[in-house]
Amino acid sequence: MSALHTPAVSQDDYLEFCVFLRGLCGIDLTQYKRPQMERRLRSFYATRGIHQLTDAFETLRRDPDALDQLLDRITINVSQLWRNPEQWQLLEEQLLPELAREGQIRAWSAGCSYGAEAYTLATLCHLVAPRARTLIQGTDIDKRMVARARLGEFTDDDARSAPRRQLEAGFDRTQGGWRAKLELRAITRFDVGDLLRTKPQPGSYDLILCRNTVIYFAEPIRDELHARLAGGLRPGGYLVIGSTERVSQPGDLGLTTTHPFIYRKA
Ligand SMILES: C[S@@+](CC[C@H](N)C(=O)[O-])C[C@H]1O[C@@H](n2cnc3c(N)ncnc32)[C@H](O)[C@@H]1O
Repeated sequence: MSALHTPAVSQDDYLEFCVFLRGLCGIDLTQYKRPQMERRLRSFYATRGIHQLTDAFETLRRDPDALDQLLDRITINVSQLWRNPEQWQLLEEQLLPELAREGQIRAWSAGCSYGAEAYTLATLCHLVAPRARTLIQGTDIDKRMVARARLGEFTDDDARSAPRRQLEAGFDRTQGGWRAKLELRAITRFDVGDLLRTKPQPGSYDLILCRNTVIYFAEPIRDELHARLAGGLRPGGYLVIGSTERVSQPGDLGLTTTHPFIYRKA
């Protein structure tokens, strides 16, 4: 479309949209990197003939499917079992045996999407530390993902990087996929939670996985979240982040880097 035919867009319909969406479903887009999020939103609506974001309000108010499609676009729920296999190998061979020596593993999958990360961890805890008291909590802002996570069902595509022995130890074969075994469901739980507002109890976790979730957060918001996560770890506990992410000043948070993208609380 030429510039001449581009419909006029009000100065800050983006901010108006953020306020509206927060009121509608609690998601606060102002905390995310604006350029990426705005581009994502505008292209989503442009393909639907909407060029002024405020014009989407009415449909969003009355049509739950429209809200679902929008959430699919902005929350980016991509995940898989054993995502980044090298991190899982390290967890299986070094970190979990070390944590299990304390007799308990309290873990948090922060931004868990549909639960692939939490069930991968549950499988490894079950294999490596069968006698430890284990509880793995998954939280996500998207309640549709939390509902899916509670089912514990995954496709073959979700399992594409999973090592076969461990996969079969944790999951039963279904038609076209895999279902988490009862033993894993017994040690996992899933809740809706907004990482921008959650403040874990000091020292309440042995392990926190927060991977591939902060990439769209504005940097100060991300740093503030990492500080809260570090506060939630007990001394000797671990924080695992995504392999494209960084904790900007780990030392200031009482963390030391033990492996790439893995930090230990002093
Ligand atoms: C790309 S997925 C990552 C899933 C998993 N951690 C992994 O690495 O495979 C990012 C998840 O973060 C969630 N998310 C985004 N903003 C959030 C927030 N403010 N609080 C909680 N979860 C959030 C999204 O809904 C999405 O399911």
